[in-house]
Amino acid sequence: MTGRPVPLIVGNWKMHKTSGEAAAFVAAWLARGPVPDGVEAVLCPPFTALGAVREALAGTPAGLGAQTMSWAEQGAFTGQISAPMLRDCGCTWVIVGHSERRAHCGETDETVNRTISTALANGITPIVAVGETAEEHEAGRATERVVGQVRAAFAGRSAAEAARCTVAYEPIWAIGSGKSDDPVGANAVMGEIRGAVPGLDRTRLLYGGSVKPETIAALVAQPNIDGALVGGASLDPASFATLLALAARARAPAGAR
Ligand code: PGA
Repeated sequence: MTGRPVPLIVGNWKMHKTSGEAAAFVAAWLARGPVPDGVEAVLCPPFTALGAVREALAGTPAGLGAQTMSWAEQGAFTGQISAPMLRDCGCTWVIVGHSERRAHCGETDETVNRTISTALANGITPIVAVGETAEEHEAGRATERVVGQVRAAFAGRSAAEAARCTVAYEPIWAIGSGKSDDPVGANAVMGEIRGAVPGLDRTRLLYGGSVKPETIAALVAQPNIDGALVGGASLDPASFATLLALAARARAPAGAR
């Protein structure tokens, strides 16, 4: 598997864990051993736990990300968090346009597009989330839906800029349902995402939606799946450690497994 990037595993904690719980998670996770070679780990805790996680991760190769941010850099936006604020907290990653933010918090293709631009201007790597509903999936419109979202997200961006981003394909029906998409089907949709915008052929694409230790190896073995955006299974230190170990092993040269 030479020539493929190391898999990226991103934990999206959603609205879970106080600072104390977050620090305890990192301590319990790292007590199981160092972050393995051959995989990249990123944690996206709630804003209020960023400081605690940053401190707990000091000296490790793991990255820190936020779950959303404003497209504006500063101003009269009560309750919003800006890219410079995230940098100040040690974040170099941000999830943009998660389906829960699109469904409940008014994020749209347009805000996603603006947020990507702001993130890149501030040295933060956007993890751009796209995905189709169950109805769209059943109607055979998954590819059309997500390619449309990806094109809208990257409109106006150069190929070099798109190559600095990550896209997470998260079928909405698979999120939190316990029912992952099948790796071959997800890979096919992700191949279309890769070709939808110049530059995405040079970056890592993640799959998300009920990823578990039982499913990670088959997912990252697919040619267009370079890692995972993980919700539920990232909340437990043992399961997060297992995900990282299995992702690293799935991509290691055969003789090293
Ligand atoms: P899940 O969440 O792994 O719990 O399905 C993934 C996500 O929403 O990013």
